[in-house]
Amino acid sequence: MLHAIDLFCGAGGLSRGFMDAGVDIILGVDNDKAALKTFEKNHGNAIGMNADLSKQETFDKIQEIAESSGRSIDLVIGGPPCQGFSLTGPRNFDDPRNKLYLAVFAMVKQYKPKGFLIENVPGMATLYEGQIKEEILKRFRSMGYNVECKILTAADYGVPQMRKRLVFMGIREDIGFPAFPKAKVDEEHYVTCREAIDDLPPRTEELGQEQDEYIMEPRSDYQKMMRKDCTILWNHVATDHKQFVKDTIALVPEGGNWKDLPKGVGESRTFHEAWTRYHGDKPSRTIDTGHRNHFHYQYNRVPTIRENARLQSFPDDFVFLGTRTQQNRQVGNAVPPLLGKALAEKMISIIEG
Ligand SMILES: C[S@@+](CC[C@H](N)C(=O)[O-])C[C@H]1O[C@@H](n2cnc3c(N)ncnc32)[C@H](O)[C@@H]1O
Repeated sequence: MLHAIDLFCGAGGLSRGFMDAGVDIILGVDNDKAALKTFEKNHGNAIGMNADLSKQETFDKIQEIAESSGRSIDLVIGGPPCQGFSLTGPRNFDDPRNKLYLAVFAMVKQYKPKGFLIENVPGMATLYEGQIKEEILKRFRSMGYNVECKILTAADYGVPQMRKRLVFMGIREDIGFPAFPKAKVDEEHYVTCREAIDDLPPRTEELGQEQDEYIMEPRSDYQKMMRKDCTILWNHVATDHKQFVKDTIALVPEGGNWKDLPKGVGESRTFHEAWTRYHGDKPSRTIDTGHRNHFHYQYNRVPTIRENARLQSFPDDFVFLGTRTQQNRQVGNAVPPLLGKALAEKMISIIEG
């Protein structure tokens, strides 16, 4: 069994995917307390460490925990935020604004894991005309890793969502070469929003509770997979919208957005994603951290946490803790567990042959 640490773990979408593929998660590190509570609740005995990854003392603490666990660090995984990324001069990656990324280099350098995996927004591939991406590849290669990166689409791996992510995979030179998992689903068979969530109570009459009951059996293979043996419906609470929000979204057809509204309606929001209603027969747009611009394909409300969690492929027994705002952030920030699982399975097959 391979053992991993997850840097910038958040609620642990990436970790959950690795765990479901059979990887032992030793530790997740983040500085968001609510996300760490969710992480610990859903990852067996994994420790959630509340620490700032831009500080040296955090590395000392990680080392202490890793040593006392008695397990080797075989994999380093993580999704460092790349806001404010900067390349001020030729190859000046050491700019302090990049320090969160530098944390990942430092961990790989220190532990020399068998492999590593880093996830980021696709836009990072073209930032500074690709110089950042090239610099990352170069640095890891100079540390003795074969490294590749690729933009992957979550829907290709059975996630009901058109989420794209840039993934760097590195395998230690003495072990082998990275390779990305092949798509498991072709475009015509992408899992749709309806297949993902139409067994969940509508929440049009009542808002529901954090811990509630299902009202019907699963209706699709995807729903069966998500529900598995789960008997409690967690985190399925609707937002109590103002009447004008309900009236406005009622005018948007399935798959439409603000451009479909009559003149004079909903004009307070007219940017690209505003008043977007999902299409029941397609995967969803990228789940965000709760900007309230995406609406249910059928009901006149934003999706609940559980609906968004389903669209992110979190199984129903994955419980989100914290306030609704914190839960939204945890779901929207996450790597879809099914995508994480496909990547983990590929890495395991490369490393264990
Ligand atoms: C994109 S999210 C990671 C999501 C996670 N990989 C998942 O799949 O659920 C980035 C995370 O970095 C954390 N973060 C940001 N700055 C940090 C810092 N200085 N130290 C530790 N964590 C930090 C945020 O709290 C957030 O949870």
